[in-house]
Amino acid sequence: MEHLKKLIDEAKKDFNSCGSMTELDNAKSKYIGKTGPLTEAMKGLSSLPKGEKPKAGAFINEIKKSIEGLLSARKEMIQNEELLNQLNDESIDVTLPGVKRNQGSLHPITHTMNRIEMFFHSIGFTLADGPEIEDDYHNFTALNIPEYHPARAMHDTFYIDDEHVLRTHTSPVQVRYMKNNKPPLKIISPGRVYRVDSDATHSPMFHQVEGLWIDEKVSFANLKGVVQDFLQQFFEDETLSIRFRPSFFPFTEPSAEIDMSWNGGWLEIGGCGMVHPEVLRQVGIDTNEYQGFAFGLGVERLAMLKFQLNDLRPFFTNDLRFLQQFRA
Ligand code: PHE
Repeated sequence: MEHLKKLIDEAKKDFNSCGSMTELDNAKSKYIGKTGPLTEAMKGLSSLPKGEKPKAGAFINEIKKSIEGLLSARKEMIQNEELLNQLNDESIDVTLPGVKRNQGSLHPITHTMNRIEMFFHSIGFTLADGPEIEDDYHNFTALNIPEYHPARAMHDTFYIDDEHVLRTHTSPVQVRYMKNNKPPLKIISPGRVYRVDSDATHSPMFHQVEGLWIDEKVSFANLKGVVQDFLQQFFEDETLSIRFRPSFFPFTEPSAEIDMSWNGGWLEIGGCGMVHPEVLRQVGIDTNEYQGFAFGLGVERLAMLKFQLNDLRPFFTNDLRFLQQFRA
């Protein structure tokens, strides 16, 4: 029986050398498993004289308890170590730089168009749209622009083929809208337009907002009032000065250029006029009953004035350092 005592020391050594729960489970079966020495000893009790059995049984049980005690102590240690390792592995290095995501914002031209739309929406204009690849008829002919007009020249306009151009203005939307809708009509139409033109204040692609109001009594005074209200609101300045400079467009009569005071001088920001009776006739509107005005505003020009820039090219070169100054 005494030899069983040695098992305690052996188990202690054995358990201490185990580094994981699996190892410990394997070691355990060597001592207190079903085929271990203690179980064997228990079985052997039957061959002992009656009087010795209780003592020997108690002795074996004590050894078993000791070994179980060692086992659970070691088990606790291993579990603590494993938890600690896991915590170390999963720790976060707060000194690592984070992943920075830039916040997006609207392009200043988009922002400007949104503001323009908001104003005209507030005074009852609805939105209309038209194609950027436009046919010769809608871009020129229906707008009373004769064959010999310089706007039709190859060096002023991007031709797709003999009959199609990148629209040179948003005015063809007037024609399309008047053809498909009956007066009274009150629309604006913002969008891209294209011309062979490139310097600090002109880009081959730029944006216009067309306006059209046709009703029984819409007058030139209404035109001036609407444009002035818009500009004063847009620039948040009730004293803002504009001037209507007499001009010519084949599709309006009378016609005017809209200028705004800028850097001590004037900057042209659009054209306007009363829709020419010939244009109304083209789209089947009775000129005895209806009349109205149209205007076309240059969006980049408005944005340049608003943001106090003297060059529009940076709007389209996509340098974020420039664009981010106008976060809205
Ligand atoms: N379409 C003209 C232009 O681009 C502007 C304009 C629009 C003039 C409407 C009068 C009426 O120059």
